[in-house]
Amino acid sequence: MLKLLSFNLLFVFCFTGLFTLSDAALTYNVLSYGARGDGNTDSTQAFLRAWSSACSSRSSAIVYVPWGTFLIKPIAFNGPCKSQIVFRIAGKIVAPWDYRTLGSAGYWILFYKVNNLHISGGTFDARGSAFWYCRQSGESCPPGVMSISFTVCNNVAVSGLTSLNSQLFHIAVDQCNNIIFHNTKINAPSWSLNTDGIHVQSSTFVTIFRGNIQTGDDCISIGPGSKHIWVERIACGPGHGISVGSLAESTNEDGVQNITVTGCILTGTENGVRIKTWARSSNGFARNINFRNIIVKNVYNPIIIDQNYCPSNKNCPNQSSGVKIREVKFSNIRGTSASQVVMNFVCSPSNPCQGIHVQDIRLSYVNGYAKSYCKNAVGSHSGVVVPYSCL
Ligand SMILES: *[C@@H]1O[C@H](CO)[C@@H](O)[C@H](O)[C@H]1NC(C)=O
Ligand SMILES: *[C@@H]1O[C@H](CO)[C@@H](O)[C@H](O)[C@H]1NC(C)=O
Repeated sequence: MLKLLSFNLLFVFCFTGLFTLSDAALTYNVLSYGARGDGNTDSTQAFLRAWSSACSSRSSAIVYVPWGTFLIKPIAFNGPCKSQIVFRIAGKIVAPWDYRTLGSAGYWILFYKVNNLHISGGTFDARGSAFWYCRQSGESCPPGVMSISFTVCNNVAVSGLTSLNSQLFHIAVDQCNNIIFHNTKINAPSWSLNTDGIHVQSSTFVTIFRGNIQTGDDCISIGPGSKHIWVERIACGPGHGISVGSLAESTNEDGVQNITVTGCILTGTENGVRIKTWARSSNGFARNINFRNIIVKNVYNPIIIDQNYCPSNKNCPNQSSGVKIREVKFSNIRGTSASQVVMNFVCSPSNPCQGIHVQDIRLSYVNGYAKSYCKNAVGSHSGVVVPYSCL
C-alpha cells in the first residue's frame, strides 16, 4: 500500500508540475472584461471574453476569477488554445435560480477540446433544488444538465474544486485522456435524482485522488470505454457508492478495463463497490478491476455485482446480460452492512462472471449473521474471508 501511495503522490506531483508557469504568464481577470461578483449581474459574456483572450495568448495564460459570486448561464470554454491555461478561481460561480435557463441547454459549464488546462479552486453551485422538485412532482420538466463537463480534453488537472447542487451529474468526463481530480468536494442531498459525483466514460488515464462526495446517486461512476482509471482516498456518503457501470446501456459498446479503487471510505451508502450491467445483449466487457482497502460503515450492499441492473424496475430489458465480467478482485474490505447479503454476485446466465477473487474480507451485518450469495459467478478466495465466500 505504501508503495502504491508514493507512486501516486509522485504522479500527482509530476502532473501538477506540468503547470508550473513561467513568470511570463499573463493574467486575464474577468473583472477587466465586465464581470461583476455581485451575484446578480450576468457575467457569462465577460467570462467568455476573458477565456477567448487567454485562449489566443501565445504564452501561458491565467484566467482569474476573484472573490465574489458570479452569475453564469450555460457557457462553453472551447479549445484548442494556443498555450496552456490556468483557471484560478477564488470566488463562487452560480447558475440562475430558474432551472429552465439551464435545463434544456445541454450543459452548464463545458470545457470542449481543451488541452493543458489546470483549474484551481472554485465553488460551482447549479442551484438544482427546484429542478429536483420538478422531477419528483411528476410534472413535465426539461431534461436537465450536468454541472461541469470535460469533453475531448487532454492533460487536465482540477484541484480543490467544489460542486454543489447539480441538476444531474456534478462532473462528467467524456472522451478525455490524462485528467486528474485532486481534493474535489461534491455536495447534493441524498434524495436528489441522478446527481452522480464524477462520471467517466470513453476516457483513459483518469485519476481521482482525495475527495469528499455526498450526493443522491453514485459518488463515482465509471461507464463504457473507460481504461486505466485510478480512484484513491475518496470519502463517499450519502450516495449510491462507487460503481463500474451502468454497462450494457446499448448493445454495441466499448469495454471497461484496468480500474483501481483503493483507500476509500463509504458511509451510509446504498452500495459500497459495485459493477452494474443491464440485462441486455451487449458486446461490452469489464475486466481487470481492483477494489481494495475499502472501509464500509452501515452500507446496504458492501460488495455487489449486479447483471440485472434495473433501478426503478420499469422497462427492464429482462434478457441475459451480454457483458463479460472477468478478473475482478476485492481485497481488504472491512466494516458493517445494513443488509444481510454483504457479498452479492448476480451474474449473467449466458455470460457467467469469471475470475472473481475475494481476499481478506471482514464484513458484518448489524442485525444478525452476514451471508454471501453467488449466481453464475466463478472465482476463488484467499486470506480470511468473513462471511464464508460462496465462490
Ligand atoms: C493501469 O492503469 C494505471 C493507471 O491507473 C497505469 O499506471 C497502469 O500502467 C495500467 N496498467 C496496464 C496494464 O495498462
Ligand atoms: C420483466 O420481468 C419482471 C419480473 O419478472 C416482470 O414483472 C415484467 O413484466 C417483465 N417485463 C417485460 C418487459 O417483459
